[in-house]
Amino acid sequence: MAMGEKPRKLLVLYASQTGNALDAAERIGREAERRGCPASIVSTDEFDASYLPHEEAVVFVVSTTGQGDSPDSFKSFWKFLLIRNLGNDWLQGVRFAVFGLGDSGYQKYNFVAKKLDKRLSGLGATTIIEKGLGDDQHPSGYEGTLDPWMLSLWITLYQINPKYFPKGPDVNISQDDVVDQPKYRVLYLKQDKLESTLLTDSDIIQRARGMSPGKLYKDKSKPDCFLKMTRSEVLTKAGSTKDVRHFEFQFVSSTIEYEVGDVVELLPSQNPSAIDAFIERCDLDPESFIKVGPRETENSGVNEEMVTQLPIKLKTFVELTMDVTSASPRRYFFEVMSFYATAEHEKERLQYFASTEGREDLYNYNQKESRSILEVLEDFPSVQIPFEWLVQLVPPLKPRAFSISSSPLAHPDQVHLTVSIVSWITPYKRTRKGLCSSWLASLTPEQEVHIPVWFHKGSLPAPPQSLPLILVGPGTGCAPFRGFIAERSVQAQSSPVAPVMFFFGCRNKDTDFLYRDFWESHTREGGMLSEEKGGGFYTAFSRDQPKKVYVQHKIREMSKKVMDLLRDGAAVYVAGSSTKMPSDVMLALEEIVSEEETGGSKEEASRRLKDLEKAGKYNVEAWS
Ligand code: 2AM
Repeated sequence: MAMGEKPRKLLVLYASQTGNALDAAERIGREAERRGCPASIVSTDEFDASYLPHEEAVVFVVSTTGQGDSPDSFKSFWKFLLIRNLGNDWLQGVRFAVFGLGDSGYQKYNFVAKKLDKRLSGLGATTIIEKGLGDDQHPSGYEGTLDPWMLSLWITLYQINPKYFPKGPDVNISQDDVVDQPKYRVLYLKQDKLESTLLTDSDIIQRARGMSPGKLYKDKSKPDCFLKMTRSEVLTKAGSTKDVRHFEFQFVSSTIEYEVGDVVELLPSQNPSAIDAFIERCDLDPESFIKVGPRETENSGVNEEMVTQLPIKLKTFVELTMDVTSASPRRYFFEVMSFYATAEHEKERLQYFASTEGREDLYNYNQKESRSILEVLEDFPSVQIPFEWLVQLVPPLKPRAFSISSSPLAHPDQVHLTVSIVSWITPYKRTRKGLCSSWLASLTPEQEVHIPVWFHKGSLPAPPQSLPLILVGPGTGCAPFRGFIAERSVQAQSSPVAPVMFFFGCRNKDTDFLYRDFWESHTREGGMLSEEKGGGFYTAFSRDQPKKVYVQHKIREMSKKVMDLLRDGAAVYVAGSSTKMPSDVMLALEEIVSEEETGGSKEEASRRLKDLEKAGKYNVEAWS
C-alpha cells in the first residue's frame, strides 16, 4: 500500500427497529468480505458520528417504521447530523450509499433513507450509487431490491478503486465462501445452579432474552408485567371470511398504567411439540445449561459479557428466544446449511437455492409456501448445524404488538385486545397460522397462563377530552377507537367533551360488524357518537353490494360535516391495515379540504394536512 493511503475498508452503519436492517447490513458486510474487503457493521447508536469524516466509504442501512419514524437507535445520530455548523464540506472525501427498508403501503415510504441521503449530500459526501429502497410490499421483500443494488455497489466501488475488492466485484457464492465463524459463542456449563435457585418467570425471561442475539435493546429483556386472560370471545359470525376475537386480560401482581391508543407487546408461547421436534432434529441436549454471547473475533477466550452472565437451560433458551416455526428462513440460512450438508444431492440443492440462479425456485419453495425453519431442516436430513449457528440464524422470537382496545378509565386494571386470527393457505394447500394470534385463540381463562408483556406508546396519542375527533378505523382498526370512545363516554359523565365522528368499515354487515352493539349504543340519543352531540357513526360495508364501498367513500359523503369539525380544530386518527387504506383516506381528506376550503387547490390542501400532521393532529397507526 502506498504511503498515506487509507486501507480499503467498508463501514456499514445500520439503524434497525425490528432486526431487518441489521440483517441487510450483515448481508452487505458479508458480501463485501467475500470480495476481499474488510467490513465493520455498527449500529448508529454505537457509532460516534463525529468520526464520520475519517471514513472513506460508508454504507447506511436504515429502516423507516410507522409514519416515517426512524428507529430509536437512529435518533441521536440524526440529531448530530442536523447540527447546522457542520458545514457543507464536512463530509468531503467521504463516499456513501444508502439502502432503506420501508413499506410502500405507508405515506412516508422510506422517509428516513431519503432524508439521510439528502443530508449526507448536503454535508459534502459523495454518492457511490443512487439510494436503494427496499419495499415490504415487494413479493420477495426488501431483498428483491437489495441484491441488484448491492451488485451495482460492488461494481461501482471497484471502478472507483479496484483495491476495494482484491477478489473482484462479482464473486459467485460458492460453498467455500461459507467460512465465516458464527457470531455467537455458546458455553455449556455443568452445574445446575438454575434449578437450585428459585427464579421468577420474569428473571428467566430476562436471563434468556438478555443473551439472545435478537435483543435490540438491553432494557427490553425484562417484561413490564404479566397478563392473564379473563375472557375470550369471537366477534365475527359464522360465514365471515375472517376470524376476529375480543380478549380481556387482567394484570397478574403488578399493574401498569396505560393510556388509550397505547400498544401492548405480547411474547407468545411456542408450540411445545415444535420445540421438542427442533431440539431432537438438531441433536441438542435440552437439559444442558448454557451461556450465549457474541464471539469476539480471533479471540478464543470468553468475552467479559459472558463472564457475568447467568446460565440458562438450553430448552428454556430455545423456547423464549428462538422462533423455530417462523416462516421463510433467509437465504443465508440455506448457504450455511449447504456447508453442513453431508448428502451430495442435498448439498447441491442447497447451493442452488443459495445462488442467484436459484432465487426464484427458492422463493417458490420457501417464501410462497411459508416454509418454517423446522420444516426446512426436516427436508434436508443430512444437515446438522452447530447450535452456535442456529442461535444466529433462527429468527428471534419477537413480541407481537397490538393496539389496546380498552380505556383504563372505563375498565380499570384491564386490558382488552381485538385480534384477527391469522391463517392462510399456501399454493400447495398447506394451512399456515400466525403464531401469536392462533396461540391467543387457543387460550382459555381457566388455563391461567401468565403472558409476558411490554407496554409502550404507539402513534396514536391519547386525545384530551376537549379535542374534536375524526376517527377512521376499518376492520381491527376500530380497536384503539373502542378505547377512545369508552374513555370519552366516562369523561362525559362529569364534564363536557368534544364531538367524535367515527368511520368504521368491514366486509359484510351481518358477519363482520365488530362491536356493533357498542357503537350503536353510543349512537343513540345522547351518546358519544350521536348527531345531537355533534358526532356521528358511519359504516362502509365493502361487500354488501356489487361495488365496493370503503370508509373513504363515507368520508367524502360526509364532507361538509368533516370540514366543519376540522375547522373546529378536530384531530384525525386513522388505524388499520397498512396496505392502501391510510393513503386512500388521506387522499379523500385532501379532496374535501381542497373543495371546501382551499378553492380547489390540491397543493394547498395537502399543505394544510401536513400542517395538521406537524401539529400532532393527524395520527396513523397501521399494521399488516
Ligand atoms: P375488502 O376486503 O372488501 O376489500 C376491513 O378490512 C375493511 O377495509 C374491509 O371492508 C376491506 O374491504 C376494507 N378495505 C380494503 N382495502 C381498503 C382501502 N384501500 N381503503 C379502505 N378500506 C379498505
